[in-house]
Amino acid sequence: MSCIGFWIRGHETFDSSLYLHPMKILAGNWKMNTLPEEGLALLDALVLGLSPERLGEVRIVVAPPMVQLSQAVERLWNVPEISVAAQTCHQQSMGAFTGEISAPMLRALDVDAVIIGHSERRNYFNETDADCAEKIRSCLNHELSPIFCVGETHQERQSGRAWEVVKNQLQTGLSQVSSEEIVDVVIAYEPVWAIGTGEVATPEQAQEMHGAIRQWLREKYHASAQNVPLLYGGSCKPSNAAELFALPDVDGGLIGGASLVAHDFLALLDALRES
Ligand code: 13P
Repeated sequence: MSCIGFWIRGHETFDSSLYLHPMKILAGNWKMNTLPEEGLALLDALVLGLSPERLGEVRIVVAPPMVQLSQAVERLWNVPEISVAAQTCHQQSMGAFTGEISAPMLRALDVDAVIIGHSERRNYFNETDADCAEKIRSCLNHELSPIFCVGETHQERQSGRAWEVVKNQLQTGLSQVSSEEIVDVVIAYEPVWAIGTGEVATPEQAQEMHGAIRQWLREKYHASAQNVPLLYGGSCKPSNAAELFALPDVDGGLIGGASLVAHDFLALLDALRES
C-alpha cells in the first residue's frame, strides 16, 4: 500500500495499512485571505498552541494562498504534524496555461496535498467533475494527496437530489483512482448552502451523507476504502463542531472562516481530538 502525500514530510515510516480507522484530519482552507505577514503570524500562533497532547492523533492541514505556500513549507519545516495543501492545481503538468500552477510544481515546493473541486472553484471558475478527475489523477501521479470536495446546492437538496448529485461527483471525480490509490485520497463533504453562510448541516444530514459516501466507497473499492478520511465542511465552528465530529462517519473538518483565527482552529482541534 502506498503512503504518499500527507506522510512524505517527516513521516516516511508511516504505514497506512496499520490503521484500522480513518485518520482524523483538521484542514484549514484559508481561501483568498491573509497577506504574507498575516499568514506567517497565523502559522506561528498555531504552532505555539500545539503540543503532542493537544494534537493527539489528529493531523492538521493548512491551505494558504498559492503565493504563500513556499513560506508556509519553510516555516513548518520542523513541524511535521502540520501538512501544507494548495487550494487547487491545473490538470496538466506543464504547458501554455497562463496563470495556472501544476501538480509537479507544487510537489517541487514540498506541498503535501491539494484541495480539488471546491464549490467556489466549480461555481466561479467553471470546474467540472471531469476536470476534477484529471486534477486528482495529476495529484496522484505527483505524490500529492487530493482533498476532493463534493456537495449539493440548496436547490438540489430541496428537490431531494442531494445524494444523486454527490454520487455523480464521486463517480466522475474518482473515475481514474484505483483501489490501491483510494487510501491516498481525502474526501470533503461540503454542502454548498452551508459554506460561509452560518447555516450548518444538522448532525442527521451530515451523518446521512457521510454514511452514504462511506458505503459507496466500500462498494466501489472494497476494504481498501475503510481508511479514506471523510471531512465535513461548511460553517463548522467551535460552537457546533463537537456534535459533528462525534458522528461515526465524520473523520474531521475542512474549515474556512474559523481556520483564519488560531484560537478557533485550535478549539476545533480540541473538539476533533476528543471525538
Ligand atoms: P466556511 O467554514 O467558512 O463555511 O467554509 C467552508 C469551506 O468552504 C472550506 O473549504
